[in-house]
Amino acid sequence: NWTTGNVIEEQVEAIRTQVGTKRAVCGLSGGVDSAVAAALVQKAIGSQLTCVYVDHGLMRKGETEQVEKDFVAATGVQLKVVDAEERFLKALAGVSDPEEKRKIIGREFIRVFEQAQAEIVAEAEHGEDVAFLVQGTLYPDVVESGGGTGTANIKSHHNVGGLPEDLEFELVEPLRKLFKDEVRMVGQELGLPDEIVQRQPFPGPGLGIRIVGEVTRERLDLLRDADAIAREELTAAGLDRDIWQCPVVLLADVRSVGVQGDGRTYGHPIVLRPVSSEDAMTADWTRMPYEVLAKISTRITNEVADVNRVVLDVTSKPPGTIEWE
Ligand code: XMP
Repeated sequence: NWTTGNVIEEQVEAIRTQVGTKRAVCGLSGGVDSAVAAALVQKAIGSQLTCVYVDHGLMRKGETEQVEKDFVAATGVQLKVVDAEERFLKALAGVSDPEEKRKIIGREFIRVFEQAQAEIVAEAEHGEDVAFLVQGTLYPDVVESGGGTGTANIKSHHNVGGLPEDLEFELVEPLRKLFKDEVRMVGQELGLPDEIVQRQPFPGPGLGIRIVGEVTRERLDLLRDADAIAREELTAAGLDRDIWQCPVVLLADVRSVGVQGDGRTYGHPIVLRPVSSEDAMTADWTRMPYEVLAKISTRITNEVADVNRVVLDVTSKPPGTIEWE
């Protein structure tokens, strides 16, 4: 019979058998799946695991700290953080095309991750023992990608641009039989903080695809502030479980006229995109309470410099995608 306790016990056994005395590496994205996979493997093999977190500078407010502090505190995992913000911003400079942005972010991510992996191998006493790569692949991912086993057979969508072709690592995928809600239960049982376990989906390319236009640090900071306000108010209103996710988008190349205090302003619009969904394949825009929208709008226009308008996206998917890029 299915209990989270049984699943954990069974997987811990399986991981120990698979990995033996060798070492494993796991990339953390800040998302639920990689966090729970890492926590399970940590429980099974402890210090034989090293996690890597690539900070691409495109995360939301507080997310990097959540991984660096809360996740480490909850699991005791060995974590290598790579601060790659500069590198990503440089690579993204002057680029506005959505697909080009995605490609650049995916490419840079793989390069930085592989470099970190190589460093871990180089630093290990017996480098050749670093032989396993942990992935947070879920059951739906396995089904969608044709049910292959043991190889890098994952939609690039879920994986910031796919895995290197010359993959020398054997995969450890302890969540392969689980659905998302089961993964959350396992994470909870493993003692992970709610902020990580109950986290809504967030795209690998991060805020880079929520700025319509070129990505710059100033624009990222502005969007981070607006997004933090929206998230805070949605949580305060108790809407986190009702809403699948709520992208907050900056229309960086659009300006409109406003008035604030005695003066004319010429600022950017922020788009709120709350959606309801079962699996992100289709979605409907969430009919959320006007009072909550009002509060978010007032706070964003008051507290975020250069934003003088907040608009609501009332498009379902299809025809709109959930993200704007
Ligand atoms: P769309 O915009 O295609 O998004 O309706 C569907 C779901 O996927 C998420 N998303 C991504 N997740 N890497 C990810 O890990 C990505 O490149 C990516 N692009 C979109 C999106 O947030 C939504 O939940």
